[in-house]
Amino acid sequence: MRMNGKVCIVTGAARGIGRGIVETFAREGAAMVWALDMNDKEFPALEAAYKNVKGAAVNVTDTAAVNALVARIKAECGKIDVLVNNAGITRDGLIQKMSDDDWDAVINVNLKGPFILTRAVAPVMMEGGSGAIVSIASVVGLDGNIGQSNYAATKGGVVAMTKGWAKEFARKGAKVRVNSVSPGYCRTPMIETVPEKVLEPIIAKTPLGRLAEIKDIANAVLFLCSDDAEFITGQVLRVDGGLVL
Ligand SMILES: NC(=O)c1ccc[n+]([C@@H]2O[C@H](COP(=O)([O-])OP(=O)(O)OC[C@H]3O[C@@H](n4cnc5c(N)ncnc54)[C@H](O)[C@@H]3O)[C@@H](O)[C@H]2O)c1
Repeated sequence: MRMNGKVCIVTGAARGIGRGIVETFAREGAAMVWALDMNDKEFPALEAAYKNVKGAAVNVTDTAAVNALVARIKAECGKIDVLVNNAGITRDGLIQKMSDDDWDAVINVNLKGPFILTRAVAPVMMEGGSGAIVSIASVVGLDGNIGQSNYAATKGGVVAMTKGWAKEFARKGAKVRVNSVSPGYCRTPMIETVPEKVLEPIIAKTPLGRLAEIKDIANAVLFLCSDDAEFITGQVLRVDGGLVL
């Protein structure tokens, strides 16, 4: 049980990759997995399936709500061992068609969200002397993509923040590790609108010959958050079947 006794927070937990991470942590013996999402409709099903999962409705861009929730988690559980910054959105468009609203919305959720969560959680981890933070980036943040200026900027930013935080949170004897996972295209509601004719050439270019599955990403996050990865920090782990080599 690789998450035995750990208190975990996962954002964007109602569906897709975030939900897969919550379920993986719960099955791996976490003391408690706090499942954070704006959409609270899935919480009753998650809480019924796993005694060690608690849903909490929060928008990751709302500083006051995040700070209050993190304070509540610390008060109820006494510590926070793991944070997964997973919540993310897309508002794609070629740059000449991308509105300021589309830019701001994606920057706020995908870049400012991890900043707000990490700012609240990292001091609790440093005070406790250890912790693991994983933020979900994307191949798009490493390699760029047509029509995703906003999204690519946020995911590249997540990688840069990961490296800075890895240095910042390992000071004063604290063993707080910070890494990111960079998934290739993964069949979740986020990519439902991506046409098959766009996905097929990606599969053809992928040495392992398929798209990512939610469990592929969840297992990578599990490894980085577990004590098996105790000497790994500041890294970006690509989970994309070798799409870019
Ligand atoms: N699916 C892919 O192909 C893919 C590839 C690379 C990276 N990613 C990244 O993985 C992460 C998860 O993606 P997914 O495919 O599971 O997405 P998804 O759209 O299926 O799920 C995202 C979840 O985040 C929640 N969310 C959105 N905005 C929020 C906010 N402001 N506050 C709280 N919760 C919010 C949504 O309600 C939803 O439950 C994202 O960061 C995404 O950018 C996904």
